[in-house]
Amino acid sequence: MAFPQNRSRRLRRTEVLRRFVRETRLSVDGLVYPLFVQPGEGVRKEISSMPGVFNLSVDELVKECREVRQLGLPAVLLFGIPESKDELGTGAYADDGIVQRAVRAVKREVPDLMVITDVCLCEYTSHGHCGKIEDGEVANDPSVELLAKTALSHTRAGADVVAPSDMMDGRVGAIRQALDVNGFQHTPILSYAAKYASCFYGPFRDAAHSTPQFGDRRGYQMDPANAREALREVALDIEEGADMIMVKPALPYLDVIRQVRDTFNVPVAAYQVSGEYSMIHAAARNGWLDLERAMLESVTSIQRAGASIIFTYFAKDLARKLAC
Ligand code: PBG
Repeated sequence: MAFPQNRSRRLRRTEVLRRFVRETRLSVDGLVYPLFVQPGEGVRKEISSMPGVFNLSVDELVKECREVRQLGLPAVLLFGIPESKDELGTGAYADDGIVQRAVRAVKREVPDLMVITDVCLCEYTSHGHCGKIEDGEVANDPSVELLAKTALSHTRAGADVVAPSDMMDGRVGAIRQALDVNGFQHTPILSYAAKYASCFYGPFRDAAHSTPQFGDRRGYQMDPANAREALREVALDIEEGADMIMVKPALPYLDVIRQVRDTFNVPVAAYQVSGEYSMIHAAARNGWLDLERAMLESVTSIQRAGASIIFTYFAKDLARKLAC
């Protein structure tokens, strides 16, 4: 049937109709709020390039997590900024490391908030790379061992889900094995399976002090030009035992999210990263974009592309918006 019998505008005339036929409905249920925890007490330091996002000490983190839960959000993602860094990133897998202390405190005080931990070494290494350096490059297999240790120590501290973000080969299998032999068969792995070597992590690296001191991450993170390779990465991670997989960043990679969603049957997550958040805020500050509409449109698009789980610094703002 064609015009004039068919008029697409009929279903766009009122807000009630538009809501009625809406294909993508945002909800808090799949949102994850990323948080940065650092040593100290009473610390609540705004990250200059990320308005409304803070570096928090453990006591402040607990307060933040209470608020997050009260807003109806299911989960947080924890990143740690340690007191000191070294060659091997030992702070990442120390029993009393910053993330381990944070997880214990949050699980004690806000037990029904799901705690996901970012498993990586770059915030903890003096060189800022995501693994152990040998002969001037990141050595895969020794790094995987350290990552498995890190995931296990997060889980021992009480993490509900571990999320490896380093892009070493074989780390999902190694983490699964480390968790299983230690009695954590039920702890899910959410793998950053298709993580691109992206400029959009810029503000995060300021926040986490994790900029590589030499070179870049292109030897382990993916080339932005590749999508088929993402499918292979996801397939390998699922084979190694990933329960959920992630595409990251989100908005510049909607085609990858869609292809992954159409090809695999595991839950698909996407990470609207720091640079995506900062760009929207910067434009809004200049009066060039409407902040709230840009937030809603970008997150809706990420979900429409196929992500049912969305990591976003807008999570609290979205929860407030969705509640009214
Ligand atoms: C690595 C990690 C990074 C992000 C999440 N995990 C940074 C990187 O790979 O350089 C980026 C998150 C963001 O930009 O919001 N630990």
